[in-house]
Amino acid sequence: MSITDPSIHTDSTSALASRFLGVRGLTDLLASRLSPEDQVPQSMTESSPAKWHRAHVTWFFEEFILRPLPSYAVYDESYRYLFNSYYEAVGARHPRPDRGLVTRPGAAEVGGYREYVDSAVVEAIESGALDDAALDLIELGCHHEQQHQELLLMDIKHLFSTHAFGPAYVDRPADDAHAPEPLTWRSVSGGVTEIGAPAPGADPAGFSYDNEGPRHRVYLEDFEIAERAVTNADWLEFIADGGYHRHELWLSDGWAHLGQTAWEAPGYWESGDDGWTTFTLSGRRPVVADEPVLHVSFFEADAFARWAGARLPTEFEWEAAAVTAGDARGQLLDPDRCHPGRAGAAMIGDVWEWTASAYLPYPGFVPANGAVGEYNGKFMNDQHVLRGASAVTVPGHERATYRNFFPAASRWAFSGLRLAR
Ligand code: AVJ
Ligand code: FE
Repeated sequence: MSITDPSIHTDSTSALASRFLGVRGLTDLLASRLSPEDQVPQSMTESSPAKWHRAHVTWFFEEFILRPLPSYAVYDESYRYLFNSYYEAVGARHPRPDRGLVTRPGAAEVGGYREYVDSAVVEAIESGALDDAALDLIELGCHHEQQHQELLLMDIKHLFSTHAFGPAYVDRPADDAHAPEPLTWRSVSGGVTEIGAPAPGADPAGFSYDNEGPRHRVYLEDFEIAERAVTNADWLEFIADGGYHRHELWLSDGWAHLGQTAWEAPGYWESGDDGWTTFTLSGRRPVVADEPVLHVSFFEADAFARWAGARLPTEFEWEAAAVTAGDARGQLLDPDRCHPGRAGAAMIGDVWEWTASAYLPYPGFVPANGAVGEYNGKFMNDQHVLRGASAVTVPGHERATYRNFFPAASRWAFSGLRLAR
């Protein structure tokens, strides 16, 4: 069976099959820049080996779409243990901190697994035998794989940053220097505001994760939002003004965390004779003044906002502002760049923006039925919501209602901030 034969499927199944293969192909492209050895180490507990990402997203399709099909033969039963991330309903799994010790299957064998599952999923789509629930799971699996494409790049950046010679994942030209734009503010009217994604199947139809709904009303005061993200130039002022050494700027947990880490600057920054540099996916580079600051934790973002006489927006303020900001996009994933552009007016793109909001369920939130109900809902404590999207978010994956989330001390995502007041 071939997906290029239009006679054996309807337009919508053919569209789903090509969308599926397109997503799968981008993972392969991103991984093609990595050697088998690059794909094995896990450079910190929160990150995962590239090989693990390639296998885990494949397992997701196998576990939730293929395994229930009577005609499907599982590729290798041990992969369920090795590549299940956190689904208790699926059973025992390899301990997360030890993912870097899984030398087998090797990178090439994971490629074989990917091809096997690719053909089986395409065949299942084309058979016309999948019910709506299974087709929805394929859609979810595609979005899941896109999340892991971003995670793979975050994790490779972290891994490569630990290498003595800071290898480049992608070559890109040196950045032009520009004067940073002055910070200006936009007023947003408050009032009763609808927040969240329309219910699945609603018109206009579009994918959203379960945690983006139900759409519901919140009450907002009038507020102002900055017309660009906080830049590296802004951050240098914060450092120069003793920002990392003034307890009055910090939340108690943030100050305690500083005591443990001795952070003096954003993640990947180093100061040398020629000023500050930062590690990028193109190796170590000078910090560019007018780019959005990257790799700051919630604690740092919050302290910066206090220092600036402002605050972080709530996720509801952020969404209300984004909905009225238009369709402009900052830098999204360009595999030949993998780095933000200059801080501009777009709210979506370049950098994930920390919000003041705890990651909590919206009123009436119900996780999906079955094991995939564990996808988002069970992580709704002790994390903060980030909005927007970053320079390593795949285009098309982003939207105004998207809720990313990480713990307050975490900063290996492409995370920055935008001020509100
Ligand atoms: C939304 C990025 C926090 O990393 O666990 C991947 C994305 N969910 N597989 C995560 C995700 C399931 C999630 N984050
Ligand atoms: Fe996952």
